[in-house]
Amino acid sequence: MGIRITPSILNSDVSNLRGELDRIATADWAHIDVMDNHFVPNLTWGLPVVEAILPVSPIPLDIHLMIEDPDRWAPAYAEAGAQSVTFHAEAASAPIRLARELRRLGSRSAMALKPTTDLEPFLPVLPELDMLLVMTVEPGFGGQSFIEPMLEKIRRARSVIDERDLDIWIQVDGGIKPETIERAAEAGADTFVAGTAVFRADDPAAAIAHLRELGEAAHARC
Ligand code: DX5
Ligand code: ZN
Repeated sequence: MGIRITPSILNSDVSNLRGELDRIATADWAHIDVMDNHFVPNLTWGLPVVEAILPVSPIPLDIHLMIEDPDRWAPAYAEAGAQSVTFHAEAASAPIRLARELRRLGSRSAMALKPTTDLEPFLPVLPELDMLLVMTVEPGFGGQSFIEPMLEKIRRARSVIDERDLDIWIQVDGGIKPETIERAAEAGADTFVAGTAVFRADDPAAAIAHLRELGEAAHARC
């Protein structure tokens, strides 16, 4: 099984989003962090910006919704044509219903866990998901350090998914760079968000290729 690199445009040059998306055309998906200044203490963009970049992006969009009331707002991103829509477990009132709705509207469904949120209460949601996002920093900002104890949560998610023979990707987001991607891959992650490691590099395509190589090698060792 391969791995996926999904760069976050949070710390890209937002005055030139189309050009920045072109710079990551060799990645699998572009990771779009939607923040509402309520669920997290930061504000980014919403549906109109996503609708504007969808037709010009060379790769599919992976929407990470750090917002309150995703039950109400998330389906519109699937309807707009996003490849994958991630809601936060802590914010959803009816996560199973929401995950089913996202799939019905044609997107992959994904659920994110903040660093302090346990996987266990959300195990019943897993069969409705195509991807589980294990946050490896407190959501809200790019450029933070990878939280090492999250490796245990990734391992636990990997063992449950494998035991139950579920087809769910495990994405990690926060502090992913050449120094951390191997440990996350060895713990069982297969889909990697990298923001500053890609957009603060002189050559984003080379940064993506390097991360892919390290991630694939570590994944193959598992
Ligand atoms: C943080 C966002 C991340 C962020 C990652 O809340 O969800 O996607 O852009 O940035 P880095 O890779 O710099 O930690
Ligand atoms: Zn994110």
